[in-house]
Amino acid sequence: MEPINGEPEAQQSDVVPPSASSYLDPNYWDKRFAREDYYEWFKDYSHFRHLVLAHIQPRSSVLELGCGNSQMCEELYRDGVSKLTCIDLSPIAVEKMKTRLLSKGFKEIKVLEADMLDLPFEDQCFDVVVEKGTMDVLFVDSGDPWNPHPVTTERVIKMLKEVHRVLKHNGTFISIAFGQPHFRRRFFNDPEFTWSVEWNTFGETFHYFFYVLKKGNRTFESYEVLEPSANPSKSLFQEELDVDDYLFRINIDEM
Ligand SMILES: C[S@@+](CC[C@H](N)C(=O)[O-])C[C@H]1O[C@@H](n2cnc3c(N)ncnc32)[C@H](O)[C@@H]1O
Repeated sequence: MEPINGEPEAQQSDVVPPSASSYLDPNYWDKRFAREDYYEWFKDYSHFRHLVLAHIQPRSSVLELGCGNSQMCEELYRDGVSKLTCIDLSPIAVEKMKTRLLSKGFKEIKVLEADMLDLPFEDQCFDVVVEKGTMDVLFVDSGDPWNPHPVTTERVIKMLKEVHRVLKHNGTFISIAFGQPHFRRRFFNDPEFTWSVEWNTFGETFHYFFYVLKKGNRTFESYEVLEPSANPSKSLFQEELDVDDYLFRINIDEM
């Protein structure tokens, strides 16, 4: 996709980090956001608007995790969702987002610096939690995707526990992601969680995943099988996705 801050290509390449694990480093994001005004990971809102609006009502209270400098919150606001809170780990992203939203008159949208692994909100206070590309960051140094490092597993479960905690009963977690269902299932289906899990895809040649997790809707069957029943043989498509640096792949696929 086209970055929309209009910088020359040579400068754009500066945002590519030395290694995939840099995406876990808050300094990487601060440096990047200091010089980048807009960037939309995966696809912009127009590509998944139909999916997201099926799960968010105008009166819903919505928390966006890792807003970065995306336009998703303003697009939701334009679609009538006004109870929006955005968080990001990067103080620079937060300051720039606040300034941008105020300059556009979107005063009601709250933006704050926070870690999605330790959310500063009370239990059961949001109808919807949404993230795009933020959970994927937790996987950048996961090693074998079939058998991620324990540190990755711990981090992802910690994040999901926080999401589950702040969601109201019957609340919905929407995860817009690069990570495929067979790698996400084991996390989403952890026995601690009471949500049902469904997913959809969007995109043209390359598909992204749109997961919908509904708290309190879990069925008995989904507690049973957490691992792939057999080691599925990898398709060519799968091999294309088995990469350490997911951003690099995404950038290639977006072109
Ligand atoms: C891949 S970018 C996605 C940005 C935006 N959601 C989008 O769709 O363009 C990941 C974002 O997550 C933020 N982030 C990374 N780790 C985080 C954490 N633990 N808590 C909150 N935000 C985090 C980064 O600062 C960055 O803005």
